[in-house]
Amino acid sequence: MSLAIPSKPANKRSEASITPPSVQHELERSLLADKAYTSPKYLYDAVGSVLFDAICEIPEYYPTRTEAGIFQQYMSEIAHAIGPHSTLIDLGAGNCRKAARLFPLLHPNQYVPIDISIKYLEDAVQRLQQRFPYIEMTALGLDFSQPWTLPNEICSDKRLFFYPGSSIGNFEPSQAKTFLHHLRSECHSDGGLLIGIDLIKDHTTLVHAYDDALGVTAAFNLNLLRHINQILGADFNVHQWRHHALFNTTHSRIEMHLEARTAHTVTWDNAHRHFLAGEKIHTENSYKYSLESFLSLLESAGFGQAQYWTDSENWFAVVYAKAL
Ligand code: AVJ
Repeated sequence: MSLAIPSKPANKRSEASITPPSVQHELERSLLADKAYTSPKYLYDAVGSVLFDAICEIPEYYPTRTEAGIFQQYMSEIAHAIGPHSTLIDLGAGNCRKAARLFPLLHPNQYVPIDISIKYLEDAVQRLQQRFPYIEMTALGLDFSQPWTLPNEICSDKRLFFYPGSSIGNFEPSQAKTFLHHLRSECHSDGGLLIGIDLIKDHTTLVHAYDDALGVTAAFNLNLLRHINQILGADFNVHQWRHHALFNTTHSRIEMHLEARTAHTVTWDNAHRHFLAGEKIHTENSYKYSLESFLSLLESAGFGQAQYWTDSENWFAVVYAKAL
């Protein structure tokens, strides 16, 4: 007796048709670089987004709950510092849950959630609009790694950029400065920024947050290879790779890498790359700041009069700064 098991080829390219050639090209170039690397945005396909939500729930990953605790404890102070009727621009809104918690005290006039994945966003915004019918909501699909400007339909008064979760940590410090400077150029002198910053702390705590006992972060990192297979039609075999996280003291950043367990060759289209055993693909940087270093970065980008709130262990900071 023979059993026909329906199977899909490992290198199916279901997303290839919707991935622009320029994006494929950029990804391919980074994989062929002397030291292979990939942009962290590729960590977030459908599975990756679910795994990231799971990361936010695990005990070792302190940033999400620490930031939430700061908002819970100091929300009225934060809202008082900002004042009502802002145009709340949520950078990387996702499920919009963090911003929604601000609404009852912040009373924004307009809510502008922005995310790279507009589809996911639209569902979340529809539900939110029913809970808060008096707040005008306009969802935007934008990729912040590309040049962007806000469309005219977004009110230009009292723009408050909301950038929680320490996502700014994905940028190199010089890119972070450029990004913040761009935010400054996207608001008038009545604008401001409310941002979450992960602070430098003991290295064990830091590394465990990115290498948890359950292996959720490992799965999140390894899933990138499946996503690359979809985008490029490559034949990465996840079994051949392991997750590696470290704290780089020189650059004050967590690094995530994927390390080849054995020497092998990965192939796609007309290209291929040989990896030696132990060779790595650098998949993410997550920069950690001291409060002082971040406040001076803000100043250099045109934001100041900063007020900040931290947890009792000084692990995380929520900073509000005004446009200068
Ligand atoms: C979404 C960039 C804030 O750097 O902590 C979590 C991403 N990577 N675990 C972070 C991430 C691995 C996260 N940011």
